[in-house]
Amino acid sequence: MASGLGYSGLQKLLHWAVALLVIGMVPAGIVISDFDNKPMVEAWLGAGGFDRLYDLHKNVGVVLLALMALRLLVRAVQGKPPYYPPIPRAERLAAEAVHWALYALLIAVPLLGWIGVSAYPALPDFFGLGTLPGLTGPDRALAESVLAVHGPLGILIGALAVLHVLAALRHGIVRRDGVFARMTSG
Ligand code: HEM
Repeated sequence: MASGLGYSGLQKLLHWAVALLVIGMVPAGIVISDFDNKPMVEAWLGAGGFDRLYDLHKNVGVVLLALMALRLLVRAVQGKPPYYPPIPRAERLAAEAVHWALYALLIAVPLLGWIGVSAYPALPDFFGLGTLPGLTGPDRALAESVLAVHGPLGILIGALAVLHVLAALRHGIVRRDGVFARMTSG
């Protein structure tokens, strides 16, 4: 339960798991979206490394989508602890706007990626469990338009995440107002 002044253990776990996955997903997405990067990736990961990175981006993205669905459910049940001492209204509204934009994008972006590879079709083997189920039938035009939106919105997640980290560090290092500890300390 989000009780007192901090988030619950489950909320912290989901927050840090999603944060770690996003740190990997955005650069991996940028690398795989340009086929010219293949020699560089394969020099590093060996033959077939580009395709493995591509599949990892798709599969980890689907895991991230599931974690985000769980996170929103937990947030709906457990709520969010109040800020104490209260933070200025304008800052609270700005924080809420960034948090909700991140929640929305972290659902929409992996969903668009999954729809894109379903329609292409380019569905990967899901961690040895069989082919990832498709969300649509084959439709190359749909795949191309959906993936053209997925990419820039994925980069927007990266930009908002940087803003979010800078704001958190300002609370933790400059202000020392307890906001940073809500997501870090037990
Ligand atoms: C939160 C999760 C995800 C993030 C943050 C993310 C982010 C990105 C980014 C930043 C790019 C590069 C865009 C560019 O340089 O223009 C990209 C490309 C791509 N992503 Fe994702 N992605 C996510 C989930 C997924 C999922 C779940 C799938 C499929 C199941 C997927 C499939 C792809 C594909 C196929 C490309 C290449 C698109 C192209 O070449 O046009 N992504 N992603």
